[in-house]
Amino acid sequence: MIQQTLVVIKPDGVERNLIGEIIKRYEDAGLKIVKLKMMQTNDSLMKQHYPHTDEYFESIGKKSAAAGDNITDFIAQGRKIVSSLVEYLQSGPVVAMVLEGEEAIPLVRKVTGYTDPATAEKGTIRGDLGEDTILKANSEGRAVKNLIHASGNLEEATAEIKLWFGLI
Ligand code: CDP
Ligand code: MG
Repeated sequence: MIQQTLVVIKPDGVERNLIGEIIKRYEDAGLKIVKLKMMQTNDSLMKQHYPHTDEYFESIGKKSAAAGDNITDFIAQGRKIVSSLVEYLQSGPVVAMVLEGEEAIPLVRKVTGYTDPATAEKGTIRGDLGEDTILKANSEGRAVKNLIHASGNLEEATAEIKLWFGLI
């Protein structure tokens, strides 16, 4: 099925001059860029973009534990990380784009790689170009710099494309 999905190159990707390299990897995978803009995010957009629910906080906390962090309260850990994530996304310009193609949502996730650059597969963007790790970042009380946001499923993709590109 042809799908559309949202990708955001986070401030570390822009700062490190990786926009071209990142876009090339998606294009080489057969994805088409159908919308693209460079922009500065703000608190209101970020709060709508990242779910502020216990369920989401818990999933973030579990990723810290999977990375080797000694966490007992997943929800509290996740809440703290999401708050630093919202700041990280505002720390510089980002590049937002809509990518389209056959099974674009899972394909983009595959090309992007796992959340933690330390364990992201080689050949993926985060695995090859990521320099930070969840363990280091979270133990310093901050979100991991992993270059990309990519919609996780159809529901996220639909809501996120509307949120980021709804008016154009
Ligand atoms: O981005 P992705 O969908 O792979 O991961 P997520 O679980 O939706 O988390 C959103 C973002 O939070 C990640 O991309 C990381 O930047 C950050 N994160 C983190 O810093 N520490 C964690 N333990 C989990 C996520
Ligand atoms: Mg996600």
